[in-house]
Amino acid sequence: AGSGGEASGDAAAADLDLITDGTLTVCSDVPYPPFEDFDDSSDSGFTGFDVDIVSAVADGLGLELEIKDSSFETLQSGLALNSGDCDLAASAMTITEDRQKSLAFSDGYYDSKQSLLVPAGSDITGIGDLAGRTVGVQQGTTGESYTEENAPEATITAFPSNAEMFQAIQAGQVDALLQDLPVNVDNSTKGDFEVVEEYDTDETYGLAMQQDNTALVDAVNEQLTALRDSGEYDELYDTYFTT
Ligand code: ARG
Repeated sequence: AGSGGEASGDAAAADLDLITDGTLTVCSDVPYPPFEDFDDSSDSGFTGFDVDIVSAVADGLGLELEIKDSSFETLQSGLALNSGDCDLAASAMTITEDRQKSLAFSDGYYDSKQSLLVPAGSDITGIGDLAGRTVGVQQGTTGESYTEENAPEATITAFPSNAEMFQAIQAGQVDALLQDLPVNVDNSTKGDFEVVEEYDTDETYGLAMQQDNTALVDAVNEQLTALRDSGEYDELYDTYFTT
């Protein structure tokens, strides 16, 4: 072994039980900007906060990175990871007790909230106005369960992806969208929409892995700590979440 971080990264990577030796195979539900999006101009074909985080993690471990676009439902249910589709899911996924029954999570890497998006000028100014109205959510998400619990009189339509939710609100098929704040904020910049309410749900995103792959979980956590210590985490954060 040589000296320096790269050699220790390679040594660590050698012990990892990966689908493809030398490659970190990552599943993500794309697009979900600013966390994951397509980008022809980047080497991987993808961009976003999650994408940059996992690419730094892969670098630190001396691994290549492969990203696979997947449906969020297969990620959050554990199916994609437990059937061996990918080593890790990076998909703005909230760490929940329910998901922890079938998945292992890294340390948290982003604190999020829920939010309500409506067309500008809508008479809906908050979740209390949703009775008898239609609200779009993403299937299998914390936004879906938050809406079911807090807007029981709304007509809830669950879509497979944010892209389909956004099309539906643009087409006037739903009156509002309830989902993660940064993604609704991103949607609001792409049309005449506004975020009218935020909900402090105490959510933290984690990178999900197979429960029995503790070597990978430990290695990923080490890399996340290194990113925070080096200041790279803050730089990435500022790139995607300028206030
Ligand atoms: N944070 C929410 C959850 O975990 C929504 C995540 C959706 N992610 C995505 N890439 N579509 O349920």
